[in-house]
Amino acid sequence: MTSSIVHRVRPSGIRKFFDVLASMEHVISLGVGEPDFVTPDHIREAGIESIQAGRTHYTSNYGLLPLRQRIAVEMQRLYGVRYDPEHEILVTVGASEGIDIAVRAVVNHGDGVLLPEPGYVSYEASVVLAGGNVQPVPTYAENGFSLTARAVEQAITPQSRAIVMGFPNNPTGAVLDPQEAQAIVDLAVEHDLVIISDEIYHRLIYGGDHVCIAALKGAWDRTILINGFSKAYAMTGWRLGYTCAPAEVLEAMMKIHQYVIMSAPTAAQWAGIEALDHGEADVQSMLAEYDRRRKLLVTGLNDVGLTCFEPRGAFYAFPSIAITGMSSEEFSFRLLEEEHVAVVSGTAFGDAGEGYVRMCYATAYEQIQEALERMRRFVKRHTHTSLAS
Ligand SMILES: Cc1ncc(COP(=O)(O)O)c(C=O)c1O
Repeated sequence: MTSSIVHRVRPSGIRKFFDVLASMEHVISLGVGEPDFVTPDHIREAGIESIQAGRTHYTSNYGLLPLRQRIAVEMQRLYGVRYDPEHEILVTVGASEGIDIAVRAVVNHGDGVLLPEPGYVSYEASVVLAGGNVQPVPTYAENGFSLTARAVEQAITPQSRAIVMGFPNNPTGAVLDPQEAQAIVDLAVEHDLVIISDEIYHRLIYGGDHVCIAALKGAWDRTILINGFSKAYAMTGWRLGYTCAPAEVLEAMMKIHQYVIMSAPTAAQWAGIEALDHGEADVQSMLAEYDRRRKLLVTGLNDVGLTCFEPRGAFYAFPSIAITGMSSEEFSFRLLEEEHVAVVSGTAFGDAGEGYVRMCYATAYEQIQEALERMRRFVKRHTHTSLAS
């Protein structure tokens, strides 16, 4: 009953793992990539009030105009990039929808799409479903998994049509170096590539500034900027995101959006306005807490022998598990079985993730402390075994 194109989509490498996890008790999960915080009160209230005021209908396909206006102000305030709220901003069902319809709006059958690896799991699926071919661009631990123009250039072919970038990165926590980012934009100009930039973690940066791709020289005209509320405002369940792009490409995305979605959830959109109007203090306090946990986890991992470079964005650490001699998948299954700590195999994010696992530190400080203790035992046991054997 199913189409050949769906068969081309690789099954999620982590589903089996999460099935095992669901059947176990007392597990400390560093597996799931979402904030442990509940959406701040005043944002929840705004959603509830909108429902109670009877705002229960569809909105404009583009999303509520006041929300788009606030998004435009935010993009200008943070990065100095200008978007016309009427024609260049589309409110989506999470960044997830934005990624999918951006890829579908620009990729023809047989086009190549450059994907930095390791990278977020949905990019590859979107490219395959759109009939495109994935062109992997490796990133390496030696330079903190940052994307280099050299690696991009080596992967470009005459078939290349677009590049999907996701920085700060899931799963590595890497951020872009501003000079490399500009060199990558220059390559995109030279080879006429569309840049789809998923900047969902733009507010979760530890030291330094976020590099907004659309703000770089020559980028605006060819960039589709994907963003959303899930991570910065702890709003994963509301399903609210947005895309900013030149009117022509936004209109093409709208063609898909209007038929498959209609409009993003109305209560979520009202809550989104409140988040942008009054949520800055919440962003800052969650960021400070993530930073505390980040330092604890990264120091602790290096201490137990799981070498980890310093992640500068998002809420993930991506340590090497080389010391145990295990594959990434074996490590994650055995750590779960033996010590009840859930982490995700690096290979779930592409072949370049072999030898690493992803740990999400959007979980309580004390839980991370306990997880580190358990990992210390695990590594001690297995390093000893592999040295002896
Ligand atoms: C890099 C990246 N992009 C997009 C998403 C999806 O975000 P949303 O909840 O806005 O659909 C995630 C969620 O984990 C992510 O890590």
